[in-house]
Amino acid sequence: METRLTDGVIQSRQTSVPDDLESRLRPFTADEFDAAFACLSEGFGEDITDVEGDRMVFEPERTLGLWDGDRVVATSGIYSREITIPGAVVPLAAVTLVSVSPTHRRQGVLTAMMGRQLREVQERGTEPIAALYASEGSIYGRFGYGLASYQGQLKGETQSMRLRSDVDAGNGRVYPVDEKDFRSAAIPFYDEIRPDTPGLLSRKDQWWDSLLLDPEKQRNGRSARRYLLHAEPDGTVTGFALYRRKADWADAGPDGTVIVVELHARHTAARAALWRYLLSMDLVRHLSAPLAGRDDPLRHMLTDARAVGMSQGDALYVRLVDVGAALAARRYPTTIDLILDIEDKFCPWNAGRWRLTGGPSYGRCVRTEGDPDLAMTAETLGAVYLGDTSLGTLAAAGRVREITPGAVAAATTAFGWPAATYSPEGF
Ligand SMILES: CC(C)(COP(=O)(O)OP(=O)(O)OC[C@H]1O[C@@H](n2cnc3c(N)ncnc32)[C@H](O)[C@@H]1OP(=O)(O)O)[C@@H](O)C(=O)NCCC(=O)NCCS
Repeated sequence: METRLTDGVIQSRQTSVPDDLESRLRPFTADEFDAAFACLSEGFGEDITDVEGDRMVFEPERTLGLWDGDRVVATSGIYSREITIPGAVVPLAAVTLVSVSPTHRRQGVLTAMMGRQLREVQERGTEPIAALYASEGSIYGRFGYGLASYQGQLKGETQSMRLRSDVDAGNGRVYPVDEKDFRSAAIPFYDEIRPDTPGLLSRKDQWWDSLLLDPEKQRNGRSARRYLLHAEPDGTVTGFALYRRKADWADAGPDGTVIVVELHARHTAARAALWRYLLSMDLVRHLSAPLAGRDDPLRHMLTDARAVGMSQGDALYVRLVDVGAALAARRYPTTIDLILDIEDKFCPWNAGRWRLTGGPSYGRCVRTEGDPDLAMTAETLGAVYLGDTSLGTLAAAGRVREITPGAVAAATTAFGWPAATYSPEGF
């Protein structure tokens, strides 16, 4: 006798992707959160069960899903946040929750979701850029997202990491605090320093709530999250750090690790004091800082720059949704006056020639019929936008076409920025 699937199984596993895909997408309701996350779990091939934090920041009206019968087969979403860009803070469409069920892959579903999502952001008219973390580096370039910020995973042996004698740790003090005291001091401090560093994101209360959740089952043998504040003698808060510890013992004795999750400081003395505290804890032998900036100053504060090793990972991929507004919003460390010819098949409203004028205190970007100085794709423009991916390097990689001699050199300087990106959280 043959074994047959029931009609119900066949029905629920069918793989047809409908025509007119974009119009078949619709936002999830708040009640459909669990169905969306079931699809996400299936898409990622892992059980995504700790979703309390995701629930806190879910914006159902900014999601898009696809249903096949009553089964969710694709998800995507946007968080409404702000991001620091060179010299300014702008609203950001933070793209998230992207998955397509294995049964519906490679039939254009993601392409349809990305297209509709970007069009809706453009029509909304408030967010000049979108950004995302990519599960795989080859997915999003075709949609105009370029690699714009980085994480530097720092590692080292704490006993070899000594601060240089010319690094002044100041007169402030480091205070281990509980979550309540941390929140009341660190949240306003974060908002004070956020505009100084490209890549940092706004964190409304629900984001802090989500970020500071610390379920035991996600700790993997590490301690609960610990909180440090740095303050001047008059009580002014000038830094904070979040870290965990992992206790371990080797034949030779203690072998613990300090895992630094995030560190912010207003000035060198606060940074030095926080690092001194973190690197000199009893029973700790190893440092791991997986979400540091790739240009973290720590290496240069040590007597032995080799004591800290770094492997670089990618962080935010940026997409200019509105080229004119996005380039006018940022600032440029040197004056720039160039015509850019942008190729943008996925968001054709951006394609064509733009005259960019800018300097340290202004940016202006308008349509022009003039002859271009440089030509590049939207993906390349997204990559250089935060000032951390060098336009010159992309030109060397064949991704920028120099039409006017000298334009690459001028634009490389102007699109750079003195502060490297810092992206210590995923979404
Ligand atoms: C990545 C994912 C969303 C792609 O969805 P999809 O509906 O298959 O994508 P599309 O059919 O629209 O593919 C569009 C193009 O991207 C390519 N592409 C899609 N996923 C890709 C991947 N993971 N790696 C490389 N290329 C990919 C396709 O080959 C296609 O190329 P083409 O236009 O040259 O034919 C889906 O495979 C998925 O859910 N993966 C697991 C979860 C995940 O990684 N999500 C992303 C989180 S950031």
